[in-house]
Formats: sequence, structure tokens, C-alpha cells
Amino acid sequence: METPRTTRVGIRDVARVAGVSPTTVSHAINRPERVSRRTRELIEQAIAETGYVPDASARLMRGMLSPLVGCVVLDIGNPFFGEVLRGVEDHLHASGCIAVTCSSDLDPARETRYLSLLQAQRPRGLILNPVTVDPGAVRRIVAQGSPVVLLDHDRADLPVCAVKVDHRAGGRLAADHLVGLGHRQLAIFTADPEILGVRERMEGFLDGVRDAGLDPARHVTRYAFQLPHLAPDAEAVVERMLARPPLPTGIFCLNDQSATELLRCLTRRDVAVPRDVSLVGYDDLADSEVLSPPLTTVRQPKYDLGRAAADLLLHEADQEHRHEQVGFRPELVVRASTAPPSR
Ligand code: RIB
Repeated sequence: METPRTTRVGIRDVARVAGVSPTTVSHAINRPERVSRRTRELIEQAIAETGYVPDASARLMRGMLSPLVGCVVLDIGNPFFGEVLRGVEDHLHASGCIAVTCSSDLDPARETRYLSLLQAQRPRGLILNPVTVDPGAVRRIVAQGSPVVLLDHDRADLPVCAVKVDHRAGGRLAADHLVGLGHRQLAIFTADPEILGVRERMEGFLDGVRDAGLDPARHVTRYAFQLPHLAPDAEAVVERMLARPPLPTGIFCLNDQSATELLRCLTRRDVAVPRDVSLVGYDDLADSEVLSPPLTTVRQPKYDLGRAAADLLLHEADQEHRHEQVGFRPELVVRASTAPPSR
């Protein structure tokens, strides 16, 4: 008995079911931001009903744009990136695109492998929060072809767009707050390996200390948390700090995730915040206001950062597009983890 020839569902079948032209179906798949949401919904419903599967390789061969956007961030375990990626996801989804997210875990080799795998899919583009602070490495990534938007990184003279908060201003906000409360024995808990945004906020903190007429060499002690896996290292770092009296009265921590770990270690050693030590974080994660005590921190507009990165990437395909850097301002959020020094 002759086996029935299975006819592959085509774009015309989808158009017929949706009641639109095949061209409109093609636009909905390849440039969804150019099709109304209502028409896109009709076409998505017709695709589901007919079981149509766009042939990605055929579309790419015809020079059409992929709906896939690769996102590579430093540490998917840090809630900061979860909130940023929420902004990316919502904006890409509204435009009919999809985000594929990877975590480099601050490992350059892992970042390189993920970028290579993503580039092989000829994606619409890449949103990259790079591990390295070396512009040459970013230039090599850009040279591989897909449009790149840098997240939380300066574009400098690179042929890319970038979104970033002014971290120097953020670090200065933390310094002004602690020095303004009267703290003179300060400490900073920074990141190892170095992260550009963290280095900048720490430089901003030291600028603030200097501008208050204090010599950082006398008033600021530096510690470093090993990232991305904080907990194993945090106890040892806190022990080193407690073994070097006098205990600082004011601490600025590289981010809220680390400040939470530091708070946990101090509390376990009956070091009270803010009675014995005031603590300032950075990012303003959703949980920071429900810590005990609620954390004073420097807020980054996380959702807006992600949304702006996705919007810049979608416009990379426009003829008139010009690369740009979109900047955001940080904001100090004062809560109960800081107070004037008691000693
Ligand atoms: O990835 C480390 C930190 O850099 C995050 O917590 C966020 O502050 C980013 O700027």
C-alpha cells in the first residue's frame, strides 16, 4: 500500500488560516516588531493550528533575521541578573523574539564557548555582560559577526551599543553616606576576579573619601570576595577582618548578594549591624529591604537596563541605526543597616 506523502505545512497554509498574506506571515516571523500585536497573535494561533515550523536554516540562507537573541551574563545565580533579564525577556517577547541565556560564571573560557555556540546559530544578536575588562577581547567577539550590545560595560570606541549605570557616582553615594554619618574606620569588600563595574564603584567610593578630606590609605581597608561562589570564601574573609582590629565601623560591599553573605557571617559572630558595623550594599535586590536589618544600598535600575539593552539590539537591524551608549544614574536607598558609629 502506498504510504501517503506527508505534505510539509508551508507559510501559505498559515496565511490562509490566519486570513492574511504570506508576506505578512513572513514579516511576523522575521521582523515581528513591524507587525501589530493583534495580527501577530492571529498568525501565532494559525502556526499552532497548522503545526507550521519555520525552516530556520532556509530563512537564514535567504538573509532573514533570526528571532533568537543570545544573552551571556556573569552569574545567573546573582538575582541582579534575574531582574535585568526580566527586562530583556519582556521586551524581546513583545517583539516576537526569544532570549537564550547563559552564565559565564566569570570564566573566560566558558564565556568563549557559549559565544561560539550562540554565534553558530546566527542569532539576531548578542547581549553580553563580558567577563574581561580587556577591550581587545570584546573587539574580537564583535568581529565574529553578530550585533553585540554590551550590558553593564562601556562601549568605548567599539562598534557596539552599551547600557550601563554610572558606577563611580554609585560608589561616591556610598562614601558620602558613611562619611556623612561620621564613620572614619571604613572597609570595602570588592570582587576577585576583577569586574569592571565593581572596580569603578570602588574607585568612586575612594574618590568620595578623598573629597571628604580623608586619606584612603589611613581610613579604608580593602578585602575581596572570591566570586561567583561566595559562601565558602566569605567566612575566611570575615575572620581575616576580625583578626585585624580595630573593626571597621562602616563597610561598603560590592553588591547586595555579597552584603547579605557578610551580614550572615557577622551575625553568626554576634557582630551587630548597625550597632557595631554599618553596612552598605549595591544593586537594591528585591530581598534587600526584608533583610534583618533592611539593607542600605545603591539602587541600579535593573529592569530598565535589560529593557534598554534589548531595545538597542532590536534596532541594530535598522538602516539608520547608530551605535550608542545608554547611561543610567544610581540612587542611594537608606535603610536600617547604617547608623552613626557607636565607637
Ligand atoms: O556581577 C557583579 C555585579 O556587577 C552585580 O551584582 C551588579 O552590581 C553588576 O554591576
